[in-house]
Amino acid sequence: MTDRYAVIGNPVAHSKSPWIHAEFARQTRQDLDYGRIEAPLDAFARTVDAFRAAGGRGANVTLPFKGEACAYATRLTERARVAQAVNTLRFEGAEALGDNTDGVGLVTDLERNLGRAIAGRRVLLLGAGGAARGVLQPLLERGPAALTIANRTAQRARELAGLFGKVRGGGFEALAGEAFDLVINATSAGLSGEAPPLPAAAFAPGAFAYDMVYGRDTPFLAMARAAGAAVSDGLGMLVEQAAESFQLWRGVRPETAAVLAALRRG
Ligand code: ATR
Repeated sequence: MTDRYAVIGNPVAHSKSPWIHAEFARQTRQDLDYGRIEAPLDAFARTVDAFRAAGGRGANVTLPFKGEACAYATRLTERARVAQAVNTLRFEGAEALGDNTDGVGLVTDLERNLGRAIAGRRVLLLGAGGAARGVLQPLLERGPAALTIANRTAQRARELAGLFGKVRGGGFEALAGEAFDLVINATSAGLSGEAPPLPAAAFAPGAFAYDMVYGRDTPFLAMARAAGAAVSDGLGMLVEQAAESFQLWRGVRPETAAVLAALRRG
C-alpha cells in the first residue's frame, strides 16, 4: 500500500509542498502519496486523527497550527522542544513524533544554496513570534559573532532572547548606530505590505538580507536592496525544510538543487 503524507494548514490551497514532495519521491524512487488537507481552525487535532486513521504516516504542519502540532505530538525532538513549534509529524502506532525542520532549512539555504556564512557574522533577526523562535537555536549553533532580535513589541524580543544564552533582544529603536552582516526577516509585516521599521544603517557594507516569506518581493527586501544589501526570499528555506522532513520520514535525503531551480523557473 502507498504510504500517505500531507501538508495540514489553513489556508493550504496554494502550498507548494505536495509538488516538492512528489519530486523528492520520484527522485529517490519512494512509493508515497502527498496531499494537502485544510483543517478547520477549531479542529486541528480531529483532522490529524482522521488522517492517521485513514493510513497517514506523516504530515507537514503550517500556519496557524505549528503550536497545536507541538501540543499534539506525544514525543518531541530537541529542536522542536526548543522552538515550541512543530512543522513535521511522524506517526508510528500510538506515537506522534513532532519535529521542527524550519531552522535547519533556513541555515542550509543560507550556507549551502546562497553561500552566506553565519559563523562569525553579526546576525539580526526581525520578529519575536513563532517563526523567529523556530530558527533561533539552529542559527546560534552556527556560531554567529552576535545574534540580536528586534521586534515591534520590544518586550517580546527581550523575553525570547532571555530563553537563549548570548542573544540580545529589544525594539527597533535600540538598533540605532548598529550594523549587521546578515538580516533575517521573520516578521509577518510583509503580508500586510509593510516593512519592519529598520534604519538603513542596520545593513553593513556587503550585508545580506533574507526574508523567510517566499514568492513575493516584500517591502523588507526592497528596503534592503535600497540600502545596498544582496537579498533572497525564503523559497530555498521551503525546499530545504521539506527535504529534512522527507529524510525524517523516509530515511533518505533528496537532492534539492534541481527542485529549487524548477520552482524558481515557475
Ligand atoms: P509567526 O508565527 O509568523 O511568527 P506571530 O507569532 O503572530 O506569527 O508573530 C508575528 C511577528 O511579526 C511578530 O514579531 C510581530 O510583531 P509584534 O510582536 O510586535 O506583534 C511581527 N509583525 C507583524 N506585523 C508587523 C508590522 N507591520 N511591523 C513590524 N512587525 C510586525
